[in-house]
Amino acid sequence: MYFKWKDEYCTGIDAIDKQHKHLMDIGSRIFDLAYADDAFDRYDDIMEVLNELKDYTVYHFGYEEDLMERYKFEYYEQHKFQHFFLIKKIERFEKEKHDIDEKQGETILELAEFISDWITNHILKEDMRYKDFFKSKGL
Ligand SMILES: [Fe+2]
Ligand SMILES: [Fe+2]
Repeated sequence: MYFKWKDEYCTGIDAIDKQHKHLMDIGSRIFDLAYADDAFDRYDDIMEVLNELKDYTVYHFGYEEDLMERYKFEYYEQHKFQHFFLIKKIERFEKEKHDIDEKQGETILELAEFISDWITNHILKEDMRYKDFFKSKGL
């Protein structure tokens, strides 16, 4: 387990905290693959985790955006743009699919870097901005 849940990740909104925990599980699986760094063919594992990351990201961002829109969160547009950007990055990984097979080691390291940046930067900085706001709305 590379991403350990800490109090500082807590938004206080149960559903969102659960989703963030699930994302960290996916992140840990990416780190496992990066750490394995052996000669085995990991193409199927990489594609599986990448697909799961994409699906769960779309679901989670949609969930946050619905709440922000419903409660008219001041930084909604800004936050949505950051989500859009993260999804674009995942799509870029997918588009380079033909390269993934050849550059498995490189891809998994890039994915590991991407997920750790997302967790430390987006969750700890951007998501925390709605914490008090949602709390004030009784969530
Ligand atoms: Fe989030
Ligand atoms: Fe977010």
